[in-house]
Order: sequence, then C-alpha cells, then structure tokens
Amino acid sequence: MSPFRLTRTLPEDATEAALRADVLHGLTCSPKTLPPKWFYDAHGSELFDKITELPEYYPTRAEREILATRAPDIARATGARTLVELGSGSSEKTRLLLDALPGLHTYVPVDVSESALTQAGHALIAERPHLNIHALIADFTTQLLLPRAPEPRLVAFLGGTIGNLLPAERAAFLTSVRAQLSPGDALLLGTDLVKDESVLVAAYDDAAGVTAEFNKNVLTVVNRELGADFDPAAFTHVAVWDAEHEWIEMRLVSRTEQTVKIPALDLAVDFAAGEDLRTEISAKFRKDGVRRELAAAGFDLTQWFTSPGELYGLALAAPSRPAPALRPAADRITACVR
Ligand code: SAH
Ligand code: AVI
Repeated sequence: MSPFRLTRTLPEDATEAALRADVLHGLTCSPKTLPPKWFYDAHGSELFDKITELPEYYPTRAEREILATRAPDIARATGARTLVELGSGSSEKTRLLLDALPGLHTYVPVDVSESALTQAGHALIAERPHLNIHALIADFTTQLLLPRAPEPRLVAFLGGTIGNLLPAERAAFLTSVRAQLSPGDALLLGTDLVKDESVLVAAYDDAAGVTAEFNKNVLTVVNRELGADFDPAAFTHVAVWDAEHEWIEMRLVSRTEQTVKIPALDLAVDFAAGEDLRTEISAKFRKDGVRRELAAAGFDLTQWFTSPGELYGLALAAPSRPAPALRPAADRITACVR
C-alpha cells in the first residue's frame, strides 16, 4: 500500500455546483457575500502562505510558538495514534505535532485545496516515509466522515480557521466533529484572541498588499470557474474591526457603479459605487467563550495554552457527553435579505 493516499469525498462537479450555488446566493443577497473557502485555489493557497510570513500577521507565529513548547504536553495528554487535521493547508506547523507523537500511525489532512494537500503530502512523505498519510479533499462545513484509522484520534483545527465561521456555523461544525469522536479522542482548537484594534486591522490590511491580493483572488476564481468578468482593480480591499461581534470583516468595496456578468449563472450583478462585497469574517475569541462553545457541542476544555502576550490560544478538549443533535448552520442564510 502506498503511504500517501488522496481521496476526493465529493465528485469535482459537486464542487462546481457548490460554487455556483454560493455565488448565486451570495451575490443576490443584501449585503452581498461570498464564503471564504473559495479563496483557496492553488494561487490563493500560495498567497495565504505568504500572509503567514508577513510582519503584521502574528497568528501563525504565535501558534507555532505554543506548539514548539507544548506539543509534548499535547502528545502525553492524548497519546494519539491518528492525527486528523481540518483545513491543513501546508501542514507546516503540524510537523511539531507529528514529531511529538511517538505512537502516531496515520495522518489525515483534510482540505478543499487539492494543490495544498498534494504539495504538503509529498513533502511529508519524503521526510517521514513510515507515516501513513491519507489526505481528504473535503469541505469541513458539510457532514464530516473520517476514514477508519487507529484510535485514539486527535482532531486538530489550527490557524484560527474556526474564526472564519459564523457563530451558528461554528456550533454546527463543532457538533459535527463531536459526533465523529469516541471517548479517548480529543480536539485541538486554535483560536486567535481579542486584542488591540490597530494590531488586528494591520494583520488583515498589510503594508505590502498581500492580503488585498488574497481577498481579490476570490474574484479571479469566480472569473475562471464561472466565466465572470470581475475587474479586481475595480474593487478596494478593506478590513474592518466589528467590536460588537468581535470579528474582523474583510470586504471588497466597489470603486464605481458597475455591472458584473456571470455567464455560467446567466446573471448580471449590479454594484453601486461604494457597495460592499463581504468575503470573510475572522472572529477573535476569549477563553470563556471558547469554553462555552465547546461545552455546547459536548466537549470539556481540558487544557488551555496561550502564546507570550496572550495573542493566541490553543484549546485541548475532550468529549464530555454524547454529541447534541446536529443543527443546520443557518447564519449565512438568515443573514441574507433578498
Ligand atoms: N491550518 C493551516 C492553514 C490555514 S488556512 C494553518 O494554520 O496555517 C485555511 C485552510 O483551510 C486553507 O488551506 C483552506 O484551503 C482550508 N479551508 C477553508 N475552508 C475550508 C472548508 N470549508 N473545508 C475544508 N478546508 C477549508
Ligand atoms: C485561515 N484563516 C484563519 C485566516 C484568518 O486569519 O482569518 C485567513 C486570512 N484572511 C486574511 N488573512 C488571513
């Protein structure tokens, strides 16, 4: 058996159908929105990796600092034989966990980005020829079905990607992860923490303009996949701190009044000058809120690690009670007024 397997959980045309549905729904909503998972084609995944090296973007460095010191504690507490990583991207920080887990048998990276999974998988297998790697191209916001693998399992969701989900989406996501786990399994959840607004805004609006390019990449994806004629230069990237919800919101603001055609949907979308297209929220957390959200999904927060300066938190959680009934993630739909 090859130690690197790549499985697509949904046929490619299902991904295209999902993009069509999201674009049709999101661009006929008020305010207009597009879900952030469409940033991550091969170019978007490369841009995200560049973001992680920017001086303003602290979360990756902060999480790496925690893992560099705490991975042995996580390994002792979990004794994981299987590491499942949701939204694994380049799997770069994951190496700290892989190195710390002595009995690890299988690594299951899960991502929507085939290019990120393939690159990371080939690099890892060259470094660790005895590790079984079973990569899954899958959307973690739809019902997760993990492959059979030795227990106990540790599910890692790093980078603060949980913050890219709206509160009801987070509840549905955590409940769905809980439903997959057995007693003895664990969840490792990376959460970016609330901090000074100027630090947050700079992290999402960097001086070199890489985040702006990442944000506009979603327009390029819609152009390529659906034949649309978005002009990325006709939109301005903005990052706004929403103090009420405690999240950063990334938007693309139309510079002028314009109409964008999307032939694959037989759709023409009008933008007023100054109109927003909302592309991502990135929620920031506090320890009590993390504990509450985990508890609501049937997890106990068992350990809480923070980076120097309390920039970032890493939560280790264990199943506490049977998973609550799965609820549909309604936010994105109810947020839309047609
Ligand atoms: N965990 C890495 C990468 C974070 S970037 C880190 O900490 O650096 C977010 C990753 O999640 C990207 O690789 C993106 O392709 C993936 N992703 C975003 N939405 C997703 C979804 N709905 N399902 C699966 N993967 C998703
Ligand atoms: C993947 N995710 C946690 C990143 C974040 O910080 O919300 C995505 C990102 N958006 C802009 N910069 C990085």
